Amino acid sequence: MIIGNWKMCKTGDEAAAFVEKLRPLVKTTEGVWIAAPFTALHALKGGPFKLGAQNMNEHDEGAFTGEVSAKMLLASGVTFCLLGHSERRHLFGETDQVVNAKVKQALSQGIQPVLCLGETLNEKEAGITEEVILRQLKEGLKGLSMAELEKLIIAYEPVWAIGSGLTASPEMAQAIHQFIRKTVGTRKIPLLYGGSVNASTIQQLINEPDIEGALVGGASLDPQTFSEIINLAL
Ligand code: PGA
Repeated sequence: MIIGNWKMCKTGDEAAAFVEKLRPLVKTTEGVWIAAPFTALHALKGGPFKLGAQNMNEHDEGAFTGEVSAKMLLASGVTFCLLGHSERRHLFGETDQVVNAKVKQALSQGIQPVLCLGETLNEKEAGITEEVILRQLKEGLKGLSMAELEKLIIAYEPVWAIGSGLTASPEMAQAIHQFIRKTVGTRKIPLLYGGSVNASTIQQLINEPDIEGALVGGASLDPQTFSEIINLAL
């Protein structure tokens, strides 16, 4: 599974043009998911790629100016949503508690959560990576039954690797994925790696036993580059 995270890039027209270019370049569209900005969702509705959002509000509706609800996303053709992305956590102050509320809301509304987690450079250097991941998992998944848990996807994205050109080595990523796998206690949750993934790193990463795909930011914006990643991975 390869998920493109477009972040705050592409208008609806740009998204539609991207799909036209990408489609003939990929050997399969199965397993290719795109997390698009809210304002580009309409242009991607109806396929061929599985459509997702990058954030959603944890409440049903009401006085939450500027926010978007699960119901609105469903009506826009969304089937999955990134939750707890490091940019949401670090730039917009999302706590583990807020992430947990969003995960529960997504599940209750039938949107598949892609829970993102990962340590910062300071945390890595302090040797507390596993502690941080454990906290994000425990708090982010609090109160979920095993049946609910198994509807999730988890993306491990070391914050120091996002947009930096520094990818975690396959061995390093595998070790954390194994830790996540052990902590969640089920093999049914796909585990993705994210952080500066590109066409030269994808293959080694997905060859690791507990890395089942990737969350791709910068390299998902160009159809040629994104297609190379997809064709190597799927
Ligand atoms: P990147 O972003 O591939 O540009 O590092 C990944 C992400 O933030 O999901």
